[in-house]
Amino acid sequence: MGGGVIGLAIGLELRIQDDRLRVLVIEQQQVGAGASWAAAGMLAPQAENISDPRLAELCQRSLQLYPDWIERVEERGQLPAGYWNCGILKPLSYPAENGLTRPQLDHLQPHLGSQITSAIWLPQEGQVDNRLLLPALKSAFLQAGGSLLENVSIQECPHNSQQLLGIETALGMLRAQSYICCLGAWSGQMALPVLMTVFPRKGQMIALQDPRQLLQHILFGEDIYLVPRRDGRLLVGATVEEVGFLPGNTAGAVQDLLAAAIRLFPPLRELTVLESWWGFRPTTPDRLPILGSSPLSNLWLATGHDRNGILLAPITADWLAGLVLGKPVDPLLEAFSWRRRLATASS
Ligand code: GLY
Repeated sequence: MGGGVIGLAIGLELRIQDDRLRVLVIEQQQVGAGASWAAAGMLAPQAENISDPRLAELCQRSLQLYPDWIERVEERGQLPAGYWNCGILKPLSYPAENGLTRPQLDHLQPHLGSQITSAIWLPQEGQVDNRLLLPALKSAFLQAGGSLLENVSIQECPHNSQQLLGIETALGMLRAQSYICCLGAWSGQMALPVLMTVFPRKGQMIALQDPRQLLQHILFGEDIYLVPRRDGRLLVGATVEEVGFLPGNTAGAVQDLLAAAIRLFPPLRELTVLESWWGFRPTTPDRLPILGSSPLSNLWLATGHDRNGILLAPITADWLAGLVLGKPVDPLLEAFSWRRRLATASS
């Protein structure tokens, strides 16, 4: 359930690992209508400064898988997936021992704001253009023999104390041997207590046109990031708001994002605004994803990826496919189990 990057990646992996399996992805809107479309697509485990060492390791391991995973997606889907190992700069307003000096910075990325005296350079981090990844992944999944239902709303997920009994949809009741919940911020729709701990954290974003492609690396500042795309779009993100599923871009958020972005990269002042949008990160009380088994024996969980869903797609797909197929489990998976004290963690 869920046709975002996580659901499609797991579906593809299942088909690759066992082509006798019949795999159906059900999407309530269109593929990637949720956070997968709204995201900036940064592959940024270090830049994100993740405090939980288990999540930091998970993110690092997924980053290592990315080049091969992208190659598989592009080969099968016959579409470009927008991977760009562009490196990330974390600008600082004080000199840092392990950072680049301002002259070094000017050489690597000219036109930075005058308050920036140094920056941490993370050459191994980068991005994937999630709006290219989505169609590539969908095509790869279909080419691999997967089936997809789009625009089919899920009405109810009846279960007894042990098992999910089916998925009641607009098309009627759908039944399977195993189910995987990849509903992102909407996971609570399944009405299982563990999934009702997943909540939305809204992010607002803006895209500008940078025709001269002045920005060549991601700038990851405090509370703001700038992500240049290869096609000349320049993304500015993102707010982090706990306002439920409240839609819309607000004037204050747009103002704050642009002011911070212009401070970081002054040439941005002259660029044309192309678009603004918002999305809902699927967040858990402890900010860790929920991966693996569930209280129901035939339901698996792959949700709660919060800020790192695009980055975590390869490892989530590999692990979940392995679990469904009964393969040995990586010990790190235990850290993301539904059995941890989710409901009582501070949010
Ligand atoms: N991964 C960046 C964000 O969630 O805003």
